[in-house]
Amino acid sequence: MTELVLIGIGAGHPDQITLEAVDALQRVDVFFVVDKGPERHDLSQFREAVCRRHRPDEGYRTVRLPDPERDRHPADYGAAVRDWHQRRAELLAAAVHAELASDGVGAFLVWGDPALFDSTLRVATDVALQVPGLEIVVVPGISSIQALTARHRIPLNRIGRPVQITTGRRLAAGEVPEGCDLVVMLDGAAAFMTLPDLDHIYWGAYLGTTSEMLIEGVVADVRDDIIRARADARERHGWIMDTYLIRRNDQLGGASRV
Ligand SMILES: C[S@@+](CC[C@H](N)C(=O)[O-])C[C@H]1O[C@@H](n2cnc3c(N)ncnc32)[C@H](O)[C@@H]1O
Repeated sequence: MTELVLIGIGAGHPDQITLEAVDALQRVDVFFVVDKGPERHDLSQFREAVCRRHRPDEGYRTVRLPDPERDRHPADYGAAVRDWHQRRAELLAAAVHAELASDGVGAFLVWGDPALFDSTLRVATDVALQVPGLEIVVVPGISSIQALTARHRIPLNRIGRPVQITTGRRLAAGEVPEGCDLVVMLDGAAAFMTLPDLDHIYWGAYLGTTSEMLIEGVVADVRDDIIRARADARERHGWIMDTYLIRRNDQLGGASRV
């Protein structure tokens, strides 16, 4: 049986990798890597460090796959993403055929947890439809959300209260559910600037890495600090990865802190 294993490797801290992930890493014949351009250089260095640490035998191959072109501002966002995933799936299916023996193990090292804002699992499921006998295995990882709440030493949810995980794009569009705290990811445009003054924000960038940054406070007090921190960080690194939790200052919750 051929296996394709999606291994969650945590959000940047080399020790935030599970024993299950370490076991899986040791069985891999071929690591598949999707080339995502220069801004992802730090992320690919982290993946290489994970391999060096847990596979000192070097008894594996790395196969690089090009990332198909993608329209970043399509009229129909959902259709454009589905089309992009399909083209990725075709490339990967061809690579699995070409590179893996019938009892071979291929793997993707997936940032954070494979179930959270990552297309690899969707693409792998499509590949399994195209490659008879291919089994998909998922190894969970520590997500950036877990890294964020741990670093700020807060629970994800208030007692008996819901939390919605959303994107900067949706927050900026004002799609904010009533009575629900928020985790915001993939925010390229500082969507927290649209939040009411009295909400409480727990912000973290490059969580788990040596460049980790944390800011916490009432939105009105800290939003300019976050804007400055983001601009500095972008200048230093050329890219930024940040996540934040918003405790809404609504009537249901009363005080907006933990
Ligand atoms: C494509 S999603 C991948 C999420 C990942 N699967 C996870 O479990 O965290 C990328 C987004 O995750 C968040 N993220 C990932 N790693 C992070 C880190 N080390 N620090 C802060 N945010 C991070 C950012 O919001 C980033 O825009």
